[in-house]
Amino acid sequence: MKVVLLLAVLCVVQCTTLASPLSTPLFLGDQLGFRAKRNSRVIEECMLVGLDEGTYFYKSRGTGDVCGVFLASQPDQVVHVTFDFVDVDCEAEGLVSFVDGWELNGAVFPSEEDFPLEGRFHEFCGKLKKKVFISSQNAAVIQYRVPKRGDGFKITVKFVKNPKPCNILVDDVSGVYTLRNHGKRVNCSITTIFPASVSLLQLSVGAVGRVPNRAFETGVLYRCEKRGVSDYVQIGGGMTLDSSQITVEDSLCGLDSNPRVRTSHILCGMTTVRLVSSGLSHNSATVAIQQLSDLDITPTLMCDVPL
Ligand SMILES: *[C@@H]1O[C@H](CO)[C@@H](O)[C@H](O)[C@H]1NC(C)=O
Repeated sequence: MKVVLLLAVLCVVQCTTLASPLSTPLFLGDQLGFRAKRNSRVIEECMLVGLDEGTYFYKSRGTGDVCGVFLASQPDQVVHVTFDFVDVDCEAEGLVSFVDGWELNGAVFPSEEDFPLEGRFHEFCGKLKKKVFISSQNAAVIQYRVPKRGDGFKITVKFVKNPKPCNILVDDVSGVYTLRNHGKRVNCSITTIFPASVSLLQLSVGAVGRVPNRAFETGVLYRCEKRGVSDYVQIGGGMTLDSSQITVEDSLCGLDSNPRVRTSHILCGMTTVRLVSSGLSHNSATVAIQQLSDLDITPTLMCDVPL
């Protein structure tokens, strides 16, 4: 059941991505100095993936299903949501919530281990105006259950620059991403919502007190987690959105500006690259991620698909 739902969302994401390439009406308008007419859409699907800025309007047809609008922006942006109005009868058990991250079947992104759940779920009902929420990363969900026919809400979604992205949800089929801790004790991850190949392009993790310099390069060290090293990168995959529940293929550390390590081909519902940092060093890891679509490639990691 979980997998079916998960795959449903994956399909929705990919179908949406494919169906509306380069739909960035705002961007052009901004460049030309016009006030572009915002995208505006009526929410019809119970699970909708919103990759565009604009307004989203929902009016209940009287079903009490729990549904969600899964919002995702570019990796270096956060999601800014304004509830222009909410009219959802509390007595009829109506409820709307803003989730800081994605939540699906009880699994959340970013994982609870890396970003505590406290303060990430905001639930409300009744008649409200102008409620604003901002996510901590490029992903957020509006969840709702509106049993009373005619009740509904309207939101305006904007994507805002995030100068220090930590957790990144990837819906693009390919891209190059860098994870950084900025010297902090924090865990950051990149999670794709499809099976993916991961190639390491640069690694500087756990180099305490050293200025990155080729002369000091240690090369890529393996099994760092098992050796008790406190800063490392995990590459792995899983079947839920929770990046702390992944099967780890490898955990890497060291200093290497041109690593020649084999590409990981992760045949799982989700692929994750997670940077664990103790705060003792400035870490960074750059990876190229590409959707695994060539079935002739032998996976380096496969997830068990539960029945
Ligand atoms: C980061 O992850 C490690 C290993 O999973 C954990 O022990 C540590 O508490 C986490 N740190 C933070 C700041 O969440």
